[in-house]
Amino acid sequence: MKPVVVSGIKPSGKLHIGNLLGMTKQSIDIQSSGKYDCLYFIADYHALTQKYSPTEKSADIFSLAVDMLSLGIDPERSVFFMQSDVLEHANMAWLLNCITPAGQLQGMIEFREKVQEGQPASAGLLDYPVLMAADILSYKAEFVPVGEDQRQHLEIAREIARIFNKRFGKTFPEPKGIFVEGLRVKSLDNPAKKMSKSLPKGCLYLSDSPEVIKKKIRSAVTDSGSEIIYDPEKKPALANLLLIYSEMSGRNIKDIAEEYRSSGYASFKEDLARVISDTLSSFREKKEELSSKPKRIREILLSGAEKARLIASKNLEEAKEKMGLI
Ligand code: TYM
Repeated sequence: MKPVVVSGIKPSGKLHIGNLLGMTKQSIDIQSSGKYDCLYFIADYHALTQKYSPTEKSADIFSLAVDMLSLGIDPERSVFFMQSDVLEHANMAWLLNCITPAGQLQGMIEFREKVQEGQPASAGLLDYPVLMAADILSYKAEFVPVGEDQRQHLEIAREIARIFNKRFGKTFPEPKGIFVEGLRVKSLDNPAKKMSKSLPKGCLYLSDSPEVIKKKIRSAVTDSGSEIIYDPEKKPALANLLLIYSEMSGRNIKDIAEEYRSSGYASFKEDLARVISDTLSSFREKKEELSSKPKRIREILLSGAEKARLIASKNLEEAKEKMGLI
């Protein structure tokens, strides 16, 4: 049996370049390596922890499924499904709730940030990390490709696995995050914040047209001084643009900075916009094709859920039994 890899993504607004570089790209590389059993899902239950409109949510879910498939998640090689179609996740979350220290959930950075941003401090938002642990442990996953912002969530998932194993006997592996070091894409209008679906003004969306990409990159904030150098401390806004350039082109960040060293922001930004548009062109074509096939998308997700359920139900039964339920 191959090691299991699990990751999820929330349908809360359109996919941005941070989601692509922080998680999706890695997930696809892992799928292509053929060395792992990969399960990727749309975390629709997690998306309910933020303010939303039900009609927009359905559209977001469909559009995210199309985006993931258009980017290269291949349902023949990975199990691709929707979280709410596999009831075992929520069921496992309840079991894990009963062993998770509540104080730790109250101290989670993301919980506090979301409440500060004006999200309701619901029990669901507080419990977000436990459902996430359940998503991972339901498959006894060993690896979880996520962006750097998810480190704390991964840490608590590992701790929950440890608590369970200690109390009820070895059951779950402690899942390890697969992070790309330093890969935290920042908001285009404020390099102190991460690019986030909840701050749409600073987002570069994968569905943006080449014209919109050009406009957004042109007006992205930059730092004082016109020299192009890679220095995340002194020039954080430029470092963010260089990171995007490097990740989208596959070129070394320092080589790019060297090439544009004295050419000024305008020509650097012009080329960056072109690199992004070119890299996303096949995605745009695939998305257009798949968007016209809602029935096919639903079939793919349901068939993925069926495969996921086979594993999750077995692991849920094992956890229940170990906890003394008959
Ligand atoms: P979500 O939808 O908020 O983010 C999806 C993925 O995108 C990464 N990401 C970023 N990476 C780099 N720079 C950014 N600016 C940026 N913004 C987002 C996130 O780190 C994430 O990997 N909690 C998860 C969803 C989830 C999950 C799971 C993940 C639910 N259950 C189980 C793994 C395993 C999340 O943040 O989704």
